[in-house]
Amino acid sequence: MIPRRRVHTYRGEWNDLGRWLSQASVNDDGAIDAWQRSVGELVGVPHTVAISSGRRGMAAIFEYLRLGSGDEVIIPAYTLGELIPLIQGFGADVVPADIDETTLNVTAETIGRRITPRTKAILVLHAFGAPCPIGSIVSLVSQSGIAVIEDCAHSLGAGVGGAMTGSFGFASFFSFETTKPVNTFGGGMVATHDPGLTDFIKSRIRVDRADLSPLKKKIRVARMEQFMFASGLAFPPLFLLATPQTRTVMNRLYRSAQHAFPGAVQYSTVQARLGLKKIQDLPDRIEARHQRVMQLQSLLRPEIRIQRLEGGATSTWYFLVAVLPVAAAPVRKRLLMRGIDAGVGAEIADNCAQTLGWTDCPNVDAVFPCAIALPIFDRISESQIARVARALNKAF
Ligand SMILES: Cc1ncc(COP(=O)(O)O)c(C=O)c1O
Repeated sequence: MIPRRRVHTYRGEWNDLGRWLSQASVNDDGAIDAWQRSVGELVGVPHTVAISSGRRGMAAIFEYLRLGSGDEVIIPAYTLGELIPLIQGFGADVVPADIDETTLNVTAETIGRRITPRTKAILVLHAFGAPCPIGSIVSLVSQSGIAVIEDCAHSLGAGVGGAMTGSFGFASFFSFETTKPVNTFGGGMVATHDPGLTDFIKSRIRVDRADLSPLKKKIRVARMEQFMFASGLAFPPLFLLATPQTRTVMNRLYRSAQHAFPGAVQYSTVQARLGLKKIQDLPDRIEARHQRVMQLQSLLRPEIRIQRLEGGATSTWYFLVAVLPVAAAPVRKRLLMRGIDAGVGAEIADNCAQTLGWTDCPNVDAVFPCAIALPIFDRISESQIARVARALNKAF
């Protein structure tokens, strides 16, 4: 089977992890500082702080901004729905901005339509690793006091016009979840030009408990996933995920297995050591993915539209999302029967306009049922991509 994703591990990683985790206590040997510096250098921002998850990073930024009742936060209509209650937890109203049907990202125009005197912050996403038009969005609000926060959960290493995602807004946050371009089995980072923000977050996380058990659990789940794909045991759960009657419950299970790094746990030295190793070849791995995406694009029927990049932008291709001219769920099932795993619906991102009860986001309504996440991972081969193209071209 060709999986839709493969957890990135370097050669010798399981041995390193076994050794590091068996040490009675993993003392901070400066790895966390070095890891924070190295992300800051890559992104091009002076202040960074590692934290237990991307979500927690986002919440810390809002806390620093004193987000509260009466405030509005604009979010993309197509993003992780779990962010909504986190923002609402501050008492703020969440307002969705529609996406462009071809880039799958918000635009300055869709954001502009949502700005009101109550807008406190704009949370933009570089969806699936592809930069949104962040320059125009930042210019749009430059004199207004509205904070632009970049959700870079998918986009460490992506850039636009020579600058990296995460360097444009007031602050940005990254995720190092198991499936992300740099996988440290959970964790996140906040990056900013404002030292007040990182000092604030550092003071908050100082009291977090040091606990490696969530990390160990994530490693076990990742190893299990690798084993299931290698042995073919992944087929039955994927079949249930592709079947309308069992899709919802399987999707819940699928999400709970990969998410939920608990709140008040310290980002560990073990994770920082992994990050330091994995960031080194990140540009090469991104370039290899890009080559495969270009290959796929050249082989697909023209009505299958792979996510379009804005001029001058590079994507990490965290997900390879295409929009089909038909509903994606039956196509996914046909691909699965040909040994190709793909994701649809909420396995890709949520229709947050629908969740929030807004009915004026036609583009996300059109994209959501027709989007499909096709296999992409670091060592996917040319022949696997050719197989995906052949199967998809015949699948509807
Ligand atoms: C768009 C988006 N934002 C934020 C996050 C949160 O990252 P974390 O899982 O590290 O909390 C994710 C996680 O997948 C995401 O997809």
